[in-house]
Amino acid sequence: MIKLPGLIDPHVHLREPGQTHKEDWDSGTAAALAGGVTMLLAMPNTKPPIFDAGTLDLALTAARSKARCDYAQYLGAGPDNTEWGNQADLPQKAAGLKMYLDSTFGQLRLDDMTLWQQHFMQWPKELPLVAHSESRSMAAVILMAAIYDRPVHIAHISLKEEILLIKAAKERGIKVTCEVCPQHLFLTRDDIPAISQGHPGRGEVRPRLATREDVEALWGNLDVIDCFATDHAPHTLAEKDGENPPPGFPGLETLLPLLLTAVEDGPLAFAQGRRLTMDDIIQKSVTNPRRIFSLPEQPETWVEVDENANYELHADEMKSRCGWTPFEGWKVRGRVRRVMLRGKIAVEDGKILVQPGYGQNVRGK
Ligand code: DOR
Ligand code: ZN
Repeated sequence: MIKLPGLIDPHVHLREPGQTHKEDWDSGTAAALAGGVTMLLAMPNTKPPIFDAGTLDLALTAARSKARCDYAQYLGAGPDNTEWGNQADLPQKAAGLKMYLDSTFGQLRLDDMTLWQQHFMQWPKELPLVAHSESRSMAAVILMAAIYDRPVHIAHISLKEEILLIKAAKERGIKVTCEVCPQHLFLTRDDIPAISQGHPGRGEVRPRLATREDVEALWGNLDVIDCFATDHAPHTLAEKDGENPPPGFPGLETLLPLLLTAVEDGPLAFAQGRRLTMDDIIQKSVTNPRRIFSLPEQPETWVEVDENANYELHADEMKSRCGWTPFEGWKVRGRVRRVMLRGKIAVEDGKILVQPGYGQNVRGK
């Protein structure tokens, strides 16, 4: 048995308000705990999107009565909410500001680069600013971080050109950090047929699955990656298999087993360059996200893992409401046995033992 600190996932979609048939604060935070995640940051592309005091209150009211793990909620950058200086302490109540600069799920997308600039200038420098920006828009975002001399965190990087540019930017002292998702570490576009099972919508995710060369560049530059994040993006199988399938993979319950299976001589570590240490996991899933997002320590909180348990991942044993996983049937090693959250047993052998409402808003003080 090994003991890890509770994991922090800085990138999770919980779908409440508005689309609770996919996930809600209860099912999503139960999935988090089952996966060893004791704190998560929830994304704002809900229905309605979270972008002002009223909509933030909507999300936090649901969270207060339903969340089982600790959390904070992002605000989204829109065309009409750039005046953050006039918003009293609203920014301080959020996990951070999320800017959607490339195509994705939901209505929160900013095309006008002058609006990007406004958000960069006006969002408080000491609070997290996270960009969904792929490829060339990522280059523009890094330029803005340099111009306005403020930190920016790049969500879910997936490409060789992205990791190499972030590396170069860091070497020159630009305040950029980044995260990588399991799907971009363990899957390439060649895996899409196996994931799809004849339903192409199941392979849809943004950023798209990349090439082997891209995946190898991520593994070859692990030291440039600050955080692991799931981008847990639950959509039901019926939606994934229907017309206009929405992009997104669930990930909260597969993150830790996949990472553990890539540690040292684990089965997923056999491919060239795929090698993690336990220290990498703790750094990128606990220490770094805590620092980058200014998150509090969680006292009496840990995850007990049976490191020698070999088993298969199956969606029908998971808590997420979406009912599927792109890693169905994968053989992994390392199972969460127990999760302690602030002195209480939160999970034991697959059972969630803390009630909805036990979770705390870490920006609530
Ligand atoms: O695949 C994705 N799904 N990428 C995103 O950026 C958003 C997410 C979602 O909300 O479903
Ligand atoms: Zn996302």
